[in-house]
Amino acid sequence: MSAHFGRIGAMASGRAPFDAAAAASNAEIVAAMSKLPYAGFVEGTSGTEKGTPKANVWTERAKFDEDAKKMQDEVAKLTVVAKGGNLDQVKTAFGSAAAACKSCHDHFRNP
Ligand code: HEC
Repeated sequence: MSAHFGRIGAMASGRAPFDAAAAASNAEIVAAMSKLPYAGFVEGTSGTEKGTPKANVWTERAKFDEDAKKMQDEVAKLTVVAKGGNLDQVKTAFGSAAAACKSCHDHFRNP
C-alpha cells in the first residue's frame, strides 16, 4: 500500500513527473488494498513494539472502523481524481488521503 500510495505522493510533491495514467493505476491498487488489512486485526494481535497495533484497536473498535472507512473513502476520491488527470486535484486528494492514514496511525499504531 505504501509503495503504490508513495508513487502518487512523489508526483503530488513534484519529486516525480506527473503521469496521470500511472497515478490512476496506482490509486486503483491502493483502493483495492485499502479494503484488505482489516480482516487481519483479530483480537490478540496487539503489541507494544514499534509498528504493532495498540490494544485500543479493540477497545475503540468503532473509531478504528470509522478511521478505516474515512481512509477508504478518501482513497476512492483520489482514484476518481487521478483518472481526471488534473495534478492540482490529485495533490489535494492525496493530502486528504494521507491525513486519513496518519490520523489512524497516530492513534492506533505504536510509534
Ligand atoms: C484504521 C486505521 C488505519 C488506517 C486508516 C491506515 N492504517 Fe496503516 N496501519 C494501521 C495499523 C494499526 C498499523 C500497524 C499494524 C500493522 O502493521 O499491521 C498499520 C501499519 C501500516 C504499514 C506497515 C505495515 C507493515 O507490514 O509493517 C503501512 C505501510 C501502512 N500502515 C500504510 C498505510 C497507508 C498508506 C494508509 C493510507 C492510505 C494507511 N496505512 C491507513 C492502521 C491504519
